[in-house]
Amino acid sequence: DYKKVYKAIADVLEIDPEYDGFGHFGPILVRLGWHASGSYAPSDHCRGGSNGATMRFAPEAKYGANKGLHIARDFLDRHVKPQFPGLSYADLWTLAAVVAIQEMGGPTIPWRPGRIDQSGPSDCPPNGRLPDGAKGAPHLRDIFYRMGFNDQEIVALTGAHALGRCHRERSGFEGPWTTSPTVFTNAFYTTLLDNTWVPKQWDGAFQYVDKATGELMMLPSDYALLEDPKMRVWVERYARDESLYFDHFAQAFGRLLELGV
Ligand code: HEM
Repeated sequence: DYKKVYKAIADVLEIDPEYDGFGHFGPILVRLGWHASGSYAPSDHCRGGSNGATMRFAPEAKYGANKGLHIARDFLDRHVKPQFPGLSYADLWTLAAVVAIQEMGGPTIPWRPGRIDQSGPSDCPPNGRLPDGAKGAPHLRDIFYRMGFNDQEIVALTGAHALGRCHRERSGFEGPWTTSPTVFTNAFYTTLLDNTWVPKQWDGAFQYVDKATGELMMLPSDYALLEDPKMRVWVERYARDESLYFDHFAQAFGRLLELGV
């Protein structure tokens, strides 16, 4: 009964008021669902994707891009999985991302069960399939075209950066993208367009901060959406029209969770 699983996840999203400064596990659950799915490559014998839940195993659990995601996996293991022993991790992780988005005020994401877990690490996808925040539009196209997404969908999916924040100890980057990191909105696009972005002055990785307060951030890969004319068109449209953004995000994210399934 997936409605029961849905409710069990929704009930614990805010169980720890101390977690990560804003007391909400939604953003990191979205990231887990995305990283489990975004390892997909159709032509390789290790196809990756959410099927298999191979991130339970080294080496995939230890890839740099997945740093910190043990927090999301442990959270589900502790609070949800024991109630549903027959549920696959692959279904649990993808459904948790859907629940998180919907419970944070986002659109209804198409989702269906049926993913099967692998029993060992032999099907872990190779490292390097997820995008690098230090890079620009050509890299984003390499990564997302591989999974069958187009420019519009790259921009729509990246709007999830309205949620959560970067952690220096995980990715090397620091700070939230928006002032409402636990609400799913089109704020990623409005914030990107409405601020002046300057390089952050620190001893860490190159990233942008907003000039006015220095408290919001953009990755070089986020800023690339402004610099690339084909992508910028979609940044502007989603900033103007949140319901269009919700439709496009829901379709693209639903497809992401199905890759290789
Ligand atoms: C476009 C290429 C992308 C790049 C380069 C990228 C990179 C990153 C990086 C570096 C972080 C910070 C991790 C940390 O320090 O904890 C992050 C966080 C996050 N990403 Fe992305 N990402 C991309 C696309 C996406 C997509 C497609 C989604 C979902 C649809 C997504 C959802 C998130 C969320 C929700 C967080 C916050 C996690 C938290 O608060 O713990 N990202 N991303």
